[in-house]
Amino acid sequence: MANSKEQFGSRFAAIAALAGSAIGLGCIWRFPYMVGENGGAVYIIIYVIATLLLCIPIFFAEFIIGRRSGANCLGAMRKLAPGTPWKWLGVLCTLTPMIILCYYSVVGGWSITYLLKSFNLGYPASFAAFSASTWAPLCAFVVYLGLTCLIVVGGIKKGIAAFTKVSIPLLFALIVFLSVYSITLKGSSAGVDYLFRPDWSKVDAHVVINALGQGFYSLSLGMGIIVTYASYISKKDDMVVAGLGTAGFTLFFALLAGLAIMPAVFAAGIEPASGPGLIFDSLPFIFTSLSSTYPVLGTVVAVLFFFSVSIAALTSSISLVEVPVAWLIEEKGFRRGRAVLLVFVIGLIGGVPCALNTGIFQSFDLLCCNVLLPVGGLLCVLFVGWKMKREDVWDEFTNGGSLKWNVRLFGFVRFVLSYLAPVAILAVFVSNFI
Ligand code: PFF
Repeated sequence: MANSKEQFGSRFAAIAALAGSAIGLGCIWRFPYMVGENGGAVYIIIYVIATLLLCIPIFFAEFIIGRRSGANCLGAMRKLAPGTPWKWLGVLCTLTPMIILCYYSVVGGWSITYLLKSFNLGYPASFAAFSASTWAPLCAFVVYLGLTCLIVVGGIKKGIAAFTKVSIPLLFALIVFLSVYSITLKGSSAGVDYLFRPDWSKVDAHVVINALGQGFYSLSLGMGIIVTYASYISKKDDMVVAGLGTAGFTLFFALLAGLAIMPAVFAAGIEPASGPGLIFDSLPFIFTSLSSTYPVLGTVVAVLFFFSVSIAALTSSISLVEVPVAWLIEEKGFRRGRAVLLVFVIGLIGGVPCALNTGIFQSFDLLCCNVLLPVGGLLCVLFVGWKMKREDVWDEFTNGGSLKWNVRLFGFVRFVLSYLAPVAILAVFVSNFI
């Protein structure tokens, strides 16, 4: 199918955008505390295996839908399965990122608040008190959502690609610096051990399921982002390279984020399983105590850390905004500026209650992670594994048979998509309710 719309422009730009979507709060905020709550190294090992065996093939399924159709999620279903109930998959994949955007931007707002507070190390007394207050989280949320929308207004090449091409390499440089710094702290080796020395007695069904869920979350699967971004990728590009590149960068970044955080947490004698407040409570404590001995260094490290968190969040939330924006432009004839404005307004309406009430925030998070993402992912793999014609899937996966490696991999990928992935996703889905 012809694809004459705007594209990312180069393979590097495409991988930077995909990796930018993947590398976000999931890696730098969620991953470290999930590692802490799920037994350390064993969780990481299962997360890596789940990503390689299962999440990358699911990534291919979404990529195939997006690039084959060259359209947004609803347009993709209209083109690939016209007049069928599959259109509801398109509806789901367009709505889910919109719902995620509402509460994700609240966490984005927390990050920019902590970034600003880092300049004088004047952090709130506790993260719980800060997140339960009214004005500061609310204003930060609005500013963060506005920043996200400003980038998306710039378009695919001049907005999203331009931003991610610069920020992803910068983010890697910052996180490498922070992890080297963290592992050189006195008493940090217990944190490194915790990350890399597996204690197999800690493995149980919940650890496995949480690790798989993390793979899903961090690769931005099941929410239309890969479908939408793949529609901006050249027909000549190799999706295996894109998938392995994205997953490789994401895994590497998550490990570096773990290395930047856990050794420092152990060095400061803080409990690693302290939940979602881990980076917002523990790290300010570490930076403040560091600055009592080295004032400049403490501030510099604090600013760099929360700058990294904010940039990682932004490169992901722009992908959340782009999904409904693509639908409004392609299906409803909106101009980009107006489409982004409408998404901004809806994001405000949905996000204000999340910023003001932690119960609503948690309900949005639970609804998305435990229901909408697994259902969206499951339907995508079923669509490619069972509904699309085998020849079409083969043609898209192998670029018409020209990519020899992909020809060899095809049988395995199709097996995973038809059998293994649906069963695994169902297991994660059902386990959330047991
Ligand atoms: N992959 C991104 C992250 O890990 O932060 C984006 C994202 C995925 C946001 C899933 C929210 C979500 F539920």
